[in-house]
Amino acid sequence: MITEVQIEETLKELFEKIEFTVEPAGLYDPLRYTIAIGGKRVRPRLCLLVYSLFKDSFDESILSPAEALEVFHTFTLLHDDIMDKSALRRGMPTVHVRWSDNTAILSGDVMSIDSYRRIAKAPVPVLPQVLELFSKTAAEVCEGQQYDMEFESLEEVPMDDYMKMIGLKTAVLIACSAKMGALIAGCDEKTCEAFYDFGYNLGLAFQIADDYLDNYADEKVFGKPIGGDILNGKKTWLLTKALEKAGGRRGELLAAMAAPAVSGEEKAAKIAVVKGIYEDLGVDEDAKYEIIRLHARAEECVAGLGLTKVRLEMLHRYADRLVGRTK
Ligand code: IPE
Ligand code: IPE
Ligand code: MG
Ligand code: MG
Ligand code: MG
Repeated sequence: MITEVQIEETLKELFEKIEFTVEPAGLYDPLRYTIAIGGKRVRPRLCLLVYSLFKDSFDESILSPAEALEVFHTFTLLHDDIMDKSALRRGMPTVHVRWSDNTAILSGDVMSIDSYRRIAKAPVPVLPQVLELFSKTAAEVCEGQQYDMEFESLEEVPMDDYMKMIGLKTAVLIACSAKMGALIAGCDEKTCEAFYDFGYNLGLAFQIADDYLDNYADEKVFGKPIGGDILNGKKTWLLTKALEKAGGRRGELLAAMAAPAVSGEEKAAKIAVVKGIYEDLGVDEDAKYEIIRLHARAEECVAGLGLTKVRLEMLHRYADRLVGRTK
């Protein structure tokens, strides 16, 4: 069996050595910049981890699809940062700020294409399923991002709609990463689906953690601006839950969210007022419980697969790290 240490070493080497086209530099430099800064590598790690439960060594037919998952994810971030007007990513200026919106659009496009090249190195017998899974997932991420933007102009969304939106924008790619590892390892359909569901529930927890951290993280550790979701009118888990619970404070919360904020001082004040209401209503604590609930649900999805204790513990450690994150 491949160990977690080997997975970490493989991931490190993979993204240190990853190669992209060089010219024109204006197109490929932003891509190299974002990949080199490096995020948490959550998706390729999950793909390699699931594969490792069934196989004893890595080769290109799994490593290249694992790269594809990270390149695709990073592409979505380049476009997301334009859409969310975000100036900081992975602790560094975002591509659209450092270069331009047009550069971030086109470098993002070429990353998406690059990810298909890498995914196509999956083993021939499962290639049709792998490509279908990846394409379906990619379209769903766009659907989720569309809902995310449309929700900005609504005052409130039902919790079910919020969960559907994060299911699409975030959870499906994590689900796809887990299933990809199982598919390429040659697992049967039931096993592949169980890993998909494992990843999906973890992905939901992951986005709720992201919503929480957008308010409560240390910016230096998180690497993204704090409070951006409030300023953008994002329908986060905290806001959605707060509106469910607000009762007599509903008008106050809606007014706080609608308050214009232009100067730095106004922005800081708006964030502080909304967070104050969150804390009064206790939704910051509620979010932590929801994350724990989804984490447990994820583990139930793989509990019946007959995996050894050692293997289940590997999955458990991955899940713990994913949802217990500070960045
Ligand atoms: C950010 O993803 C976008 C979300 C889905 C919340 P990550 O938190 O995985 O970002 P990186 O790759 O580590 O920077
Ligand atoms: C991320 O949602 C979803 C995708 C990038 C597809 P967010 O907008 O919350 O991600 P961050 O917080 O900018 O990383
Ligand atoms: Mg976004
Ligand atoms: Mg964003
Ligand atoms: Mg976010």
